[in-house]
Amino acid sequence: MTNPTLTTLLNHRSIRKFTTKKLTTAEITTLVDAAQHTPTSTFSQQYSIISVTDPQKLAALGDITGHHWLEKSGHFFLFLADQYRNSQLVTATPATIANLHSTDKFLAGIFDASIAVEAMVVAGESLGLGSTIMGSILNDVPRLIDLFHLPELTFPVFGLAVGHPAETPERKPRMPQELMHFTNDYQPLTADNATLAAYNRVITDYYQARGSHQRTETFTHHIATELARDPQQRAKLNQALEYQGFLQHH
Ligand SMILES: Cc1cc2nc3c(=O)[nH]c(=O)nc-3n(C[C@H](O)[C@H](O)[C@H](O)COP(=O)(O)O)c2cc1C
Repeated sequence: MTNPTLTTLLNHRSIRKFTTKKLTTAEITTLVDAAQHTPTSTFSQQYSIISVTDPQKLAALGDITGHHWLEKSGHFFLFLADQYRNSQLVTATPATIANLHSTDKFLAGIFDASIAVEAMVVAGESLGLGSTIMGSILNDVPRLIDLFHLPELTFPVFGLAVGHPAETPERKPRMPQELMHFTNDYQPLTADNATLAAYNRVITDYYQARGSHQRTETFTHHIATELARDPQQRAKLNQALEYQGFLQHH
């Protein structure tokens, strides 16, 4: 089965190298429009987007993420979970306060921002633009709060670096569906799972064949490396969530 939408979705690759061409105002507005027309939990539109154009702020984001290439993107968007706008629309009562600060509403902001960013990725790709979602902004949330003057009840979720692609990376192979799409019951992995072994070989081949950052690694090894990272690296996250007024139980 194929059509232009599926072709765009199935051709996705994250792009980290861009030409010097900046996005036009029309392109930026169109991308935000696509983001805005995604489903939004309880029609509350509880996320915001900050376009970062100030070179000093972009340099700070380069430092925070360690990904200085973002400074050379055609445009950089910062996505926030945002209950603050809605908090300004209502009178504070015990119920509104409890709701705005709840885990439920924090998650709703995260869901809204997550769905919106992917629409922007796909809309960009349909226009020939490339992008990378950047969770690495979470390396220093307190600094982001200062840098962008984020009020309470907002929280940075990710960045999106967009631009005209100056690279054509290989498509990263995803796992066979039987490892992640189940029917009626969850299916844990068995120790000698042949499908997983085959996928590990696919990933090893992918890393060895690709043009840049070649390495020898299976998917299993990749996950082991990711999960061996120092959990303290993001220890400030919980404090930052509390500082911004989220996850409170009244
Ligand atoms: C929530 C999220 C956060 C991400 N953060 C980063 C990041 O900080 N830096 C980066 O280079 N890529 C980041 N990525 C991109 C992933 O590394 C990428 O999607 C994954 O390796 C699969 O590659 P592909 O998008 O080219 O298919 C992020 C992706 C998601 C969904």
